[in-house]
Amino acid sequence: MKHVFRSGVDPDAPTLLMLHGTGGNEKDLLPLARILSPDSAVLSPLGNVRENGMPRFFRRLAEGVFDEEDLLFRTKELKEFIDESAEKYELDRKQVVAVGYSNGANIAGSLLFHYPGVLCAAILHHPMVPRRGVALPDLSDVPVFIGAGRNDPICAPSETDELQRLLESAGASVHVHWEHAGHQLTRAEVEAASRWLRDTFKTV
Ligand code: MLT
Repeated sequence: MKHVFRSGVDPDAPTLLMLHGTGGNEKDLLPLARILSPDSAVLSPLGNVRENGMPRFFRRLAEGVFDEEDLLFRTKELKEFIDESAEKYELDRKQVVAVGYSNGANIAGSLLFHYPGVLCAAILHHPMVPRRGVALPDLSDVPVFIGAGRNDPICAPSETDELQRLLESAGASVHVHWEHAGHQLTRAEVEAASRWLRDTFKTV
């Protein structure tokens, strides 16, 4: 996958895997990575799917209706990209934290749903439930931050609650941060994610 890689200053800080939203690109979330953990290595791929020219990480059939076959194919593709990049850039494969926004949060959620051990933690800004009716792997040592908006027209609060329940039932410790906002990523949400990351990883 086309991507940006920035090496880290502190080898003990987790690598941040930055996953952009629909219409974004591999450079969009680099400033966010710097706010969250300035000393971390950063791996930021560009989604391989195009929707009317807009990059995404997997196809959808309509707003909020995912193409499940493509979601599974692209989730595997991203997992393999992380594995290959960890070797190429000599990253600690056990210390990769996904940070996704919207479509990027949805493929990060899909990684958690399908591949045990692929991520050691995740920050999901405005995620949806990536897939229903599947057994999740054991996520008992995976902390997850979810940022959500009470007035988000794309991810209804009930969907955030459902995602929290699914992740918790697989053993994940989930922290949900609510904003009185819509689908946008607010400064306050970024600050909450940053505090959560510092509390979760003493090396950040
Ligand atoms: C998605 O398709 O992943 C979600 O609807 C979020 C979005 O990209 O708009």
